[in-house]
Amino acid sequence: MRALVTGAAGLIGSNLCVELERRGHEVVGLDNFSHGSFANLVGFGGDVVSADLVDAPSWQDTVGPVDVVFHQAALTDTTVMDELPMMQANVEAFRKLLKWVAAGRARQIVYASSAGVYGDGPLPMREDAAPRPKNVYAYSKVVMDKVAQDFSLAHPRIPVAGLRYFNVYGPGERFKGKSASMIWQLAQQMLQGRRPRIFEFGEQYRDFIYVKDVVEANCLAAIKKARGAFNVATGRKTTFNEIIAHLNAALGTNLEPEYFKNPYAFYQNETLGDPAKAGKEFGFTARFTTLQGIEDYLGGFKKAKVPA
Ligand SMILES: NC(=O)c1ccc[n+]([C@@H]2O[C@H](COP(=O)([O-])OP(=O)(O)OC[C@H]3O[C@@H](n4cnc5c(N)ncnc54)[C@H](O)[C@@H]3O)[C@@H](O)[C@H]2O)c1
Repeated sequence: MRALVTGAAGLIGSNLCVELERRGHEVVGLDNFSHGSFANLVGFGGDVVSADLVDAPSWQDTVGPVDVVFHQAALTDTTVMDELPMMQANVEAFRKLLKWVAAGRARQIVYASSAGVYGDGPLPMREDAAPRPKNVYAYSKVVMDKVAQDFSLAHPRIPVAGLRYFNVYGPGERFKGKSASMIWQLAQQMLQGRRPRIFEFGEQYRDFIYVKDVVEANCLAAIKKARGAFNVATGRKTTFNEIIAHLNAALGTNLEPEYFKNPYAFYQNETLGDPAKAGKEFGFTARFTTLQGIEDYLGGFKKAKVPA
């Protein structure tokens, strides 16, 4: 298979590039290097096109035809308030990519949606829930899902799968800065010997999913030519207190959490996805528990004191 991975220099895109190549596929990565970094692609042997997806002519001829597009590129900072750049980077880039696919440049597309579309909706979050986006990032994913749905109706021969990732963590996220996972942020504090700081009283929870599971979900969705929107979740809760306990175990530290008052009135206290649909349609089940994911992620970096 020949694959295009957009957002190749980011957390998920870079892991996907490396794994697809390891499985023997020809992979072309594409990124505008606005947030990811070349450092995530060291060791990847495929071609890398440096272009902004919104600027369509700059990449459309360069990439060449592919079998599958794995679309990961996006502005991923949920705190961005400037709505036009967010909508352009996420929705309009996607629309251009789909136009390119429809012109016969790819047979299939798997794209990154987000659990953000559910906002603080009912738990566990299921694909048929009404969207309740809380920020323009999440709203851009709601519109992408709508654009994908319309595209599928207009092009029934081209499978399109939207993967609603929950809280992804793993190697390659350090370039995300404050958008990196809570696991990475807490590990940073603890690696520096500081007590990890969390909102009172640490019982908030997330459906944390390890990047290797997310990569596997992409591969399975492509193999099974999945169509529609799917949660990519573990279906398990991990509280922030539990994360700190797991990090203490993985790092060999014994640092107590330092609680402080949450200043945000609308902070999302929980995420939890129902993984059943992805399991049924393309056989995806997350393999890593949060403790196993943290051990896999941090194990090799204990001495270096910097999780990559
Ligand atoms: N990480 C998570 O927890 C999570 C959760 C839900 C959904 N997602 C989605 O998964 C996808 C990948 O996320 P990530 O965590 O790897 O983010 P990331 O920020 O690490 O990677 C995104 C990459 O896209 C690139 N990019 C941005 N706009 C671009 C454009 N117009 N043209 C070309 N490249 C562009 C950036 O430079 C970056 O390398 C995104 O679509 C994101 O919305 C991520």
